Amino acid sequence: MKVSVIGAGNVGASCAEYIAIKNFCSEVVLLDIKENFAEGKAMDLMQTANLNGFDTRIIGSTNDYSKTAGSQVVVITSGIPRKPGMTREELIGINAGIVKSVTENILNHSPEAIIVVVSNPMDTMTYLALKSTGLAKNRVIGMGGALDSARFQYRISEALACPGSDVDGMVIGGHSDKGMVPLTRLARYRGVPISEFLSEERINELMEATKVGGATLTGMLGTSAWYAPGAAVSTLVQSIVCDQKKMIPCSVFLEGEYGLHDLCIGVPVILGKNGVEKIVELELSEAEQAKMTSSAEAVKKTNSVL
Ligand code: LAC
Repeated sequence: MKVSVIGAGNVGASCAEYIAIKNFCSEVVLLDIKENFAEGKAMDLMQTANLNGFDTRIIGSTNDYSKTAGSQVVVITSGIPRKPGMTREELIGINAGIVKSVTENILNHSPEAIIVVVSNPMDTMTYLALKSTGLAKNRVIGMGGALDSARFQYRISEALACPGSDVDGMVIGGHSDKGMVPLTRLARYRGVPISEFLSEERINELMEATKVGGATLTGMLGTSAWYAPGAAVSTLVQSIVCDQKKMIPCSVFLEGEYGLHDLCIGVPVILGKNGVEKIVELELSEAEQAKMTSSAEAVKKTNSVL
């Protein structure tokens, strides 16, 4: 199985690293426009193969898409990341052109590929990749919800002082500071609602911390984060490549689900060998639905800039 990652910056390299380390693909191609950059990252990562015990072959490419030919999944991380104080939406001008041309190049060499979009503003870039290619909606997936849910789980485990693996929590809605909808009502500590352990005030605090999770890290790092984004991508790529049918919140095209139409936004989906195999429609409370609807309005406003 072959997976390609376009863009060998922090996020792209981290995607390649986690995919390789999880050892479920035979080959990962890392591609970047900067001369020799992806080749360098690939070589550095390959020198960890024995140390980390993986057999995945990582190949670097300077903008030669023929090396990506026959990929089952292609991850797009290309474009500029945000700087402290910037919103994800401010990146649209530069990133839209890049994502559109990258998507065309990918499909020229891997016409059957499932596309995973990471570039920001992620929901709008997913919509652009879908609309500009005319691909079936099961084949274009934005990764935001997987990352936002991981950040939500981190905040919950921090509040409970418990291991992250004991916690379950899901974030739906747009991948933006204001648009995320952490579903606190459904969050669990080993199956027990978190409201059994935490006050409403504490739950609200961790919900707000989750929503600005990316911005908090951008402020601390001077650029956007990469470990959790890379790990989130590797989880959803693995569910597709290994046909695991995991339920992961992702940005997908909606046609009436959640009362929403003609946009890509985060909702829980089942990911398997066909990409999005099912959109899971949760019964939302009135307040949750209202947040989801207003998040969708914001995503559509950004889409209109396209
Ligand atoms: C973040 C970027 C990847 O949230 O959108 O860190």
